Amino acid sequence: MKKVLVIGSGGREHAIVDALSRSPQVGKIYCAPGNAGIAAQAECVPLKDTDVEGLKAFALENGIDLAVVGPEVALAAGVVDAFKAAGLRIFGPSKAAATIEASKDFAKQLMAKYDIPTASFETFEDYDAALEYVKKGSFPVVLKYDGLAAGKGVVIPETFEEAEETLRDMLLDDKFGKGKVVVEEFLTGPEFSFMCFVDGLDVYPMTLSQDHKRAYEGDKGPNTGGMGAYSPVPIITDEDLEFSLEKVMKPTAAAMVAEGCPFTGVLYGGLMKTPQGPKVIEFNCRFGDPETEVVLPRLASDIYDIFSAVADHTPMPEIEWKKEVTMGFVMASKGYPGSYDKGYEIVMPEEIAACMSPRNDVSGHPEEHSDVRIYHMGTSCKDGKYYTAGGRVLMVVGFGADLQEAHDKALAAVESIECENLFYRRDIGWRVL
Ligand code: AMP
Ligand code: GLY
Repeated sequence: MKKVLVIGSGGREHAIVDALSRSPQVGKIYCAPGNAGIAAQAECVPLKDTDVEGLKAFALENGIDLAVVGPEVALAAGVVDAFKAAGLRIFGPSKAAATIEASKDFAKQLMAKYDIPTASFETFEDYDAALEYVKKGSFPVVLKYDGLAAGKGVVIPETFEEAEETLRDMLLDDKFGKGKVVVEEFLTGPEFSFMCFVDGLDVYPMTLSQDHKRAYEGDKGPNTGGMGAYSPVPIITDEDLEFSLEKVMKPTAAAMVAEGCPFTGVLYGGLMKTPQGPKVIEFNCRFGDPETEVVLPRLASDIYDIFSAVADHTPMPEIEWKKEVTMGFVMASKGYPGSYDKGYEIVMPEEIAACMSPRNDVSGHPEEHSDVRIYHMGTSCKDGKYYTAGGRVLMVVGFGADLQEAHDKALAAVESIECENLFYRRDIGWRVL
């Protein structure tokens, strides 16, 4: 039986651990650092996701057969390069390939050079030059800080005054850190998340999902890491999907090879279905969060085989998806994505708390089928009680024959969870229901 180490501590990692727990080949799962929910399915190891040396030493000492990396910060810290240099098997892109997410400017230059459809743009280091450019353009305008900012580095000012203030924050006051700003054309249309397993030139699509980035109902409020998601996405046609695979994801994988930084791992295309067809809003170098929590539960194939094929550059097995669909609601701490307090008790009915126990079946409909699955994003546990411990706290996923059923199951579960400091959006899936 294989020993696997999952690196990370959110809902995404919980869903990865959950998927691995359904593999008949996988015996022991470790998660570093993990969280209180993950602890029900894996042994949590108190190592930070960016502690590259510590993680490597742990993997060597414990005979880890395969490591899987969740967060971009670990990838940008070079964890994959370090593991490979030590002869360890790991799923994820190199530090060089992770630049596709770590630098918005790198991603935009790559798309421009290889003719991959995206919003027109210009990159600035100089405040005055950026301001001058923005003044000549139209509003709203999209301003993106060129570096990792946990989903908070994008501001879309409606007015010149607002743009001036944002550029000041980003270029003069270094509020996000020292860096450049990408000024982008504002596009319109529904967004969707297209995650693919990529091994150099080979691209294997996952089923589509849709995130809800804004904090409040009606897609209002500040951008967050994501407040809910569902899969599949019926408003995206087979033609859109074909275009997105052939004109976006495959050429991008080929471009990374041509640039000398071949991508291995999950390439996440954040796409928008514009009136002119799908265009790239952003690339991520990893599984999306909360998209992973609705996509991986629908995977009917053994995920250990998929991770292995990418890590070893061997042929990919057929990837199959269940008919069962999913929709998930994020429960977040009041104040998120701004500042928030932690440590509030979360009270769940027994049958809801039991939704976290292992769901061990790889093939088709699970035998011990439960209509709800709860992935922990930021919780702690003390004396058998759960407490809030992060901005996003729980991702409650419902399963159903259709999205309405999945929605109703998830929402009923959400409503049964009591915690005085949590909020959620009730309108997840509004575009399709
Ligand atoms: P990003 O971090 O690049 O995905 O941007 C965060 C969010 O800002 C996206 O999910 C979009 O909703 C919005 N956004 C980013 N770029 C654009 C654009 N060019 N046009 C319109 N909205 C955008
Ligand atoms: N949910 C968007 C992301 O993972 O970046």
